Amino acid sequence: MANIAIFASGSGSNFEALATSFKGDKKNEVKLLICNKKNAYVIERAKNHNIKCELINYLQDGQLLVEKKVTDIIKHNKIDVIFLAGFMRVLSAKFIKDVGIPIINIHPSLLPKHKGSDAIKKAYDAGDKEIGISIHHVSEEVDGGEIILQESIPLEKEKGLDFIESEVHKLEHLYYPQIAKQICEEINSKRN
Ligand code: GAR
Repeated sequence: MANIAIFASGSGSNFEALATSFKGDKKNEVKLLICNKKNAYVIERAKNHNIKCELINYLQDGQLLVEKKVTDIIKHNKIDVIFLAGFMRVLSAKFIKDVGIPIINIHPSLLPKHKGSDAIKKAYDAGDKEIGISIHHVSEEVDGGEIILQESIPLEKEKGLDFIESEVHKLEHLYYPQIAKQICEEINSKRN
């Protein structure tokens, strides 16, 4: 059994895709959501899926204390893998080392292009001819780390930014659950 934690800060459409795909999975379970925004819609989504949400507050507690609390939560819940799904905070090298489990991120660009926030708009404004997603291991470097999968589509600028965004999100919702399942399989097979 692989126990999963998802970290998210926003609407949570990727959380939704992951939670839905693991529903009824006898070998893996999404055990908790870690969220750093008290009004984020992802909290509502977690309630609908009966997934426990732990709210963290960087402004009140600071990064060091928040990461200590999250490390304790991860250990207490025996989490095996963390999937970042629109989590808009950088995790410290210490945190990555202390939790000692795989941390995977999805980013809406063909890394190493357009790191950081607003990646889709950055590709759109830059006049890129293609756009896509990267799923990668998390390292100390923001949106760095070994790439697991990249998928791309043509960037048809005349269709407008909203259309392009929704096409990129479709790619995310299709591929993130597939890769997540694959990683959980690897975790489970190492145990057997
Ligand atoms: C997603 O597009 C995700 O790839 C991106 O934030 C969005 C969250 O949407 N993540 C990053 O930009 C990480 N640097 P969601 O809340 O609907 O899943």
